[in-house]
Amino acid sequence: MKNRIVWLLLLLLAVSCKSYYRESPRVETLLTEWEFSRDSLNWTPVTVPHDWAIEGPFDRANDLQAVQVTQNFEATVTEHTGRTGGLPYMGKGWYRTRFDVEKYLPVRDVVTLLFDGAMSQARVKVNGQPVIEWPYGYNAFHADITPYLTPDGRDNLLEVSLENLPHSSRWYPGAGLYRNVHLICTHVNHIPVWGTYVTTPEVSEEQATVSLQITLADDDGLNVSVRTEIFDPQGNRVASVETPASREMTQTFQLRRPMLWSPETPNLYRAVTSVSDANGLLDKYTTRFGIRWFELVPDKGFYLNGQLRKFQGVCNHHDLGPLGAAVNRAALRHQLALLKEMGCDAIRTSHNMPAPELVELCDEMGFMMMIEAFDEWDIAKCENGYHLYFDEWAEKDMVNMIRHFRNNPSVIMWGIGNEVPTQCADEGYKVAAFLQDICHREDPTRLVTAGMDQADCVVRNGFAQLLDIVGFNYRTHKYESAYRILPQKILLGSETASTVSSRGVYKLPAELRSGAQYEDNQSTAYDLEYCWWSNVPDIDFALQDDLPWTIGQFVWTGFDYLGEPTPYDVDAWPSHSSYFGIFDLASLPKDRYWLYRSQWRKDAPTLHLLPHWNWPGREGEKVPVFCYTSYPAAELFVNGVSQGVQRFAKGIKGNPGTNDAANSAATLPRYRLMWPDVVYAPGEIEVVAYDASGREAAREKIRTAGEPAAIELVADRDRLDADGLDLAYVTVRIVDAEGNLCPLADNLVSFDVTGAGRFRATANGDATCLVPFQSSQMPAFSGQLTAIVQAGKEAGTAVLTAKADGLTPKSLNILIK
Ligand code: GAL
Repeated sequence: MKNRIVWLLLLLLAVSCKSYYRESPRVETLLTEWEFSRDSLNWTPVTVPHDWAIEGPFDRANDLQAVQVTQNFEATVTEHTGRTGGLPYMGKGWYRTRFDVEKYLPVRDVVTLLFDGAMSQARVKVNGQPVIEWPYGYNAFHADITPYLTPDGRDNLLEVSLENLPHSSRWYPGAGLYRNVHLICTHVNHIPVWGTYVTTPEVSEEQATVSLQITLADDDGLNVSVRTEIFDPQGNRVASVETPASREMTQTFQLRRPMLWSPETPNLYRAVTSVSDANGLLDKYTTRFGIRWFELVPDKGFYLNGQLRKFQGVCNHHDLGPLGAAVNRAALRHQLALLKEMGCDAIRTSHNMPAPELVELCDEMGFMMMIEAFDEWDIAKCENGYHLYFDEWAEKDMVNMIRHFRNNPSVIMWGIGNEVPTQCADEGYKVAAFLQDICHREDPTRLVTAGMDQADCVVRNGFAQLLDIVGFNYRTHKYESAYRILPQKILLGSETASTVSSRGVYKLPAELRSGAQYEDNQSTAYDLEYCWWSNVPDIDFALQDDLPWTIGQFVWTGFDYLGEPTPYDVDAWPSHSSYFGIFDLASLPKDRYWLYRSQWRKDAPTLHLLPHWNWPGREGEKVPVFCYTSYPAAELFVNGVSQGVQRFAKGIKGNPGTNDAANSAATLPRYRLMWPDVVYAPGEIEVVAYDASGREAAREKIRTAGEPAAIELVADRDRLDADGLDLAYVTVRIVDAEGNLCPLADNLVSFDVTGAGRFRATANGDATCLVPFQSSQMPAFSGQLTAIVQAGKEAGTAVLTAKADGLTPKSLNILIK
């Protein structure tokens, strides 16, 4: 009888353990509600991700950098205004929050904190005890905080102190806990952070071999079993393997007729790994992955899944314009959707580790990635830049970056550095080898590159020879000579163009110019101006079209960013954001968008006309008209009168041997249809595009606008998720009584959001505008601006109203579900 009772009790215990393990083997939460202080005395509540500097105010004195940028061959020290955005990112900041883990008991056995990035020099304490420090603000890091928790798991105090040194960046870095902080509670037997590594050693149309390496944290003598199930993109279980546990183990799967990942088919599989003991489930860990293969063939190029392609990429900094550096998935999705529409298929995360949200979105939406680690190695670019940490931290930073992102199919290559001065040091190649070896050790499946701008010395000193991929930043005139010497026999435009322009601002005469400056601190929207080290997009198109061994390019940049307002960067306040973007800071397309689209979108036609047709006072004078199109020919009409048919010039090759204006001038007619001698008369210009057989295929018209009369609102989305984070980008257009865009309008527009959403920010894309992005009023720039509406957490309707003196106001409803 006694025995029977003991057995019954044991059975009951086993059943109850089983059930609570089964319910929540792993609990992951985001810590979003914090208090923030700039002096550790006065605290305000904030929501993380949080950027303490984005609200400004903009000020010339903020991080004013009196420096000689030797990289740009500057001869003297000058005041670089707006270099880091003119925003108060420097100095110290403190964050604190309290959390309970007692509610997760008994899963609580191991509690881990994971920071996706903290800007910068993070020092983390739990209940007053130091836990971890991480200097580099862009990288993710994690720590086991179990030993520091309160005995009952309640009311734990988490404190993070941060410090940004002045003169530590060449662009706006953001400030604070600008990425997510995760609290992860697991059983002691679990798969730790970044504890799996998926590779696909063999891939064919018929079959793929998937190999999953698993690291197991285990205190129980490995009395567990590990089972992984693979789910295909439709959610069907397609394979399953169970193996005995070991601390480092590999499971292998054969998948029939795999659905390959590519930018056009971003198919994603899931490997769901369960760790169990006799009592039940102890951990469940999901690894998302893709199946694809690629190779670099000397002289032939880059092949993805057996298909030759060239990277149609852009570089982007991490800030989200008016939202600052605080990461927001909806904002990133918005950017990627715009880039996709242009035909872009690749992203370079210049010049640092990205937020995981960006990499996940690239997996899902189909972009190939170059994830880049550093802008500086052991030799300084900025007085307080990463060189201060390189010796001690470079390997740790590389390891975290690679383990974080090596399961993401979008990631094709690792970038180990951007224009690092070390490239010209006698033994610089040793540093490159050290970093490349870490990549090969941690992830033998991917290629390694570096953005090199010193084309002569890297070829001379062996630096370029050792990289998997030769990446040249600019130096288009050096491509051929480098190709002839270097053993790789392929070349990537790791950074290209740096063409500058201001949306809607056309300078006359329309001329190719390097370093052009004007009184109004704007650059021409004719896409003819560039830096002394760079070029117009047409040169890059020609090199990619003509040279089979070029493997594509990453344009500087997809979006304008905060800081680096070249060519208005030396004592040229109030310029404080870039002019390089294909999209401006308000995420509105500049004309260049259609130039790239006309070359990159193979599946949809492009027809775009520029400039605007409002030139009061220029009647009877010349205003050149350009057309960016994928059609082979087009005819321009001014007020119904033909200005002639233009066709793309054939046979004129961009001469890669030179980088001068004559070469650019010779190349433009290959990619732009141009009518240089059009005489301005108000009315309308119309372009008629003809297809290869000479038949009319499409038309595009621009009318001279009358006085501003009304506001038009166009939202990118009409329904948002009620998650408190989702965003709608609303384009605000000032139009005349007939609905024509008023291209010179600068009306001050006021915004108000009522109902289930809130007004988040606004921007107009003018790099000289000092109105804070959170202000509810913003002047239009070239007739347009953007308002960003953020969803609340309750379903309902958000109503955005825009008003301006003398104009008919407009309201727009956005459904929050
Ligand atoms: C490059 C550099 C970029 C940016 C760009 C501007 O040399 O890599 O970070 O500064 O120039 O043209």
